[in-house]
Amino acid sequence: MTKLEQIQAAEARLLLSTYDRNPLLFVRGEGVHIIDEKGDRYLDLLSGIGVNALGYGHPVIEEAIARQSRALIHTSNLYFHQGQAELALRLTELTGMDRAFFCNSGAEAWECAMKLARAHAGILRGEGVNIGTKFLALEQSFHGRTFGAMSTTYKDKYREPFAPVVPDVEFVRFNDVADLRAKFSNEVCAILVEAVQGEGGVRPLTQEFIAEARALATSTGALLIADEIQCGMGRTGKWCAYQHYDIQPDITTLAKPLAGGIPMGAVLCSEEVARSFHPGMHGTTFGGGPLACAVAIAVIDHIENENLLANATEVGDYFQAQLRALAARHDAIVDVRGKGLMVAAELDSVELAKLTVAEMLKRHILINCTSDTVLRFLPPYILERAHVDTAIAALDEIFTEHVATQAAAVESETQAAAQSIGGLYNG
Ligand SMILES: Cc1ncc(COP(=O)(O)O)c(C=O)c1O
Repeated sequence: MTKLEQIQAAEARLLLSTYDRNPLLFVRGEGVHIIDEKGDRYLDLLSGIGVNALGYGHPVIEEAIARQSRALIHTSNLYFHQGQAELALRLTELTGMDRAFFCNSGAEAWECAMKLARAHAGILRGEGVNIGTKFLALEQSFHGRTFGAMSTTYKDKYREPFAPVVPDVEFVRFNDVADLRAKFSNEVCAILVEAVQGEGGVRPLTQEFIAEARALATSTGALLIADEIQCGMGRTGKWCAYQHYDIQPDITTLAKPLAGGIPMGAVLCSEEVARSFHPGMHGTTFGGGPLACAVAIAVIDHIENENLLANATEVGDYFQAQLRALAARHDAIVDVRGKGLMVAAELDSVELAKLTVAEMLKRHILINCTSDTVLRFLPPYILERAHVDTAIAALDEIFTEHVATQAAAVESETQAAAQSIGGLYNG
C-alpha cells in the first residue's frame, strides 16, 4: 500500500464523510507550485480555494509566523495584545469602514454580520423606526455552512438536509433589479450580496443592481452587507470587490486570504452599525489571536510593497484575454468572465467541465469547477503571464482532444449505422 492509500483507508474509517478528495498527497509548496509526496509539482491556480494569496513557502509569511510564535501565539480575548488594533487600523483604512471584529473563518464572520444586522434593526425599532428582521439574499449566493450562513446560501442541497433553517430569509433573482424592488420592504433588516459571486459561478453584480440595493437599504435604515470572503482582500485588483462599484456597504466580511493561509476572518462595519454590539453579545476564543493578526499585517504590507493589486489586475486581464482567444477557437467555452485574479470560463456541458478539471490535474495544474459548468481560477496574486500561458496551452490541448474524441465517436457510430444498414440490405 502506498502512503496515500494508507491515508485514504484511515480517513475512510476515521473521518466524517464530508469531502470527495482528489487522490493527491501534498507535502510542501514553493511559490505558485504545490508538490506531492512523489516530488511532482503542480501549478496551483486555485490556491487552496482562494486562500494562499502569496503562494506557498513565502518568506514574509514564514518570518511573521516564526517571529510571532516565538513571542506569543494565543492570549484569549480577555486581555490585550498589540495585533488587533493595528490590523483593524489597516483594514478600516483599506475598506472605508470604521470598526472591526476578528474571528477564524468565513462562515464565522458571516454569522457575526447577520447578528449585527438583527441587533441593529432591534436598536432602530427601539428608536421608533419601522424595520423588520428579514434578510434578502441572492440566488446562487454562497455564505458558508454554519446555520445562519447556510440559511442565506441559495442552493437547496446546502440547506435541505438540515431543515428547518433560520427563518426570515428570502432570495432575490441575481442582478434582477425589479425582483429586488418587489421583495424589498420595511420588513427587511439587511440585503446580502457578494459583489462577485464565487461559488455561484464567478458572477459580478451589475452596477445598477448594487446601486439599487444600496439605495433601497438606505431608504429604510436596512443594511447592505457585502460578503468579500472570496472576492475581497485584493483578489479582484482592489482591496474589496465592492470598490469597483463606488458604493460603500454597512458591513463587509473577509476571510480566506486575509492571513495568507493561517485561519482568520474579519467583520468590518460602520460606526452606526457598531453601536449594535456591547460586551457579551458576541465573542470567540481564538479569533484575532496574536499569530493570525501578525501574519495578516505582514500579508497586507507585502501586497502593498510589491504592488500585488496591480499584478492581480494586469495578469487577471491577460488571463481573461487568453481565455477569450481560446473561446474563439473552441465552441465549448460559452463565456469568460471575472475580475482581477478571480476568473472563470463557463463550458457548454457538465461532463466536459468535469473532464477538463481531471485532465488539467493529469497535466499537473489545479483548477476546479463550480456551479456545474464553470471552470474557476483563483490563483495566488504572485501569478505571472508565463503561468497563464501554461494553463491556456493545457486547456487548448484538452479541448482539441475532446473535439477529436467526439468526432471519432460520431465517425464510428456512423460506420456502425452504415454497416447495419448494409447488413440489412445484404441480408
Ligand atoms: C463568499 C463566501 N462566503 C463565505 C464562505 C465561507 O467561508 P469558510 O469556508 O471559511 O467558512 C465562503 C467559502 O467558500 C465564500 O466563498
